[in-house]
Amino acid sequence: MPRKVIIDCDPGIDDAVALTMALFDPRLDVVAVTAVAGNVSPEQATINVQAIVEQLDPPRYPRFGAASAPDHAPYVDARHLHGADGLGNAGLAVSQHARQHPSEKLICDEIRAAPGEVTLVCLGPLTNLARALARDPDLLSLVGRVVIMGGSAKCVGNVTACAEFNIYCDPASARTVFRSPTTKTVIPLDVTDQVVWSLDLLKQLPDDTTRAGRLLGKILPHLFRSFRQELGLERIDLPDAVAIAAMLQPELFQTTELAGDVETSGDLTLGATIFDRRPNSLQRADIEVALEVDASAVADCILRCLAEAGRQT
Ligand code: BDR
Ligand code: CA
Repeated sequence: MPRKVIIDCDPGIDDAVALTMALFDPRLDVVAVTAVAGNVSPEQATINVQAIVEQLDPPRYPRFGAASAPDHAPYVDARHLHGADGLGNAGLAVSQHARQHPSEKLICDEIRAAPGEVTLVCLGPLTNLARALARDPDLLSLVGRVVIMGGSAKCVGNVTACAEFNIYCDPASARTVFRSPTTKTVIPLDVTDQVVWSLDLLKQLPDDTTRAGRLLGKILPHLFRSFRQELGLERIDLPDAVAIAAMLQPELFQTTELAGDVETSGDLTLGATIFDRRPNSLQRADIEVALEVDASAVADCILRCLAEAGRQT
């Protein structure tokens, strides 16, 4: 039986690639896609989630959750990388929908509807999961698994010297989630950074007679351009796609259970994730942190999922 999954995301080009992988994978039943502010504003993230799904038109439509601004976080976005609309300025059409439920409500509802069966994959800031926990403190005893793309195991960041973007956007929520008493799997930047893509990726996508190929062909070239112009890099990474691979094929990652927390203040350290690697640590080690990855096998996994999306569209 396919595994029920909620994808919480802030599309974002790599979020869109992750959704393309997940929505057609026969091992997964994506019951909801919930938007969160991050790469783009909450309004734009909400539009993008729906636009991506409609563009792909998967056999089974997930429910959509709407994002709203984080409560105590400075506004940050990554439009310099993902484009003004977060999707490479692709101008995707989106139909008018009736008012959507807030993302955190949908997360609570779907987990309560299938206790122990739902995997929650967080590909953006942890605002929605923190809010869901505030709304329903028993939620974590009911969730099957939580997989988070975020943080950095060695304190090397991508938005500041030591903070990763998803955690930096809403450190207070990230701290709530990290401190919550449940096992979570964290796929940090150290691991996602190892799966890199040259321009050759564009030739390996499904062709543009398919819906998946058309979507990816519209948005991915923008990421290559912005990585070159903004970061001086001739390659891109797709962290959220790596997190989907980690959910599908955990055997490609080596994880260690560690205690972890998030800096919520500090001129230099705001949003940094701190993992306690002391052998004699007395902290509760309930974060399964991916520290090693078989990068080429993960790249193959991602390409296979995208090819499958192409076949079905
Ligand atoms: C994360 O930040 C976002 O820009 C990406 O979508 C990804 O989720 C990587 O740090
Ligand atoms: Ca993301």
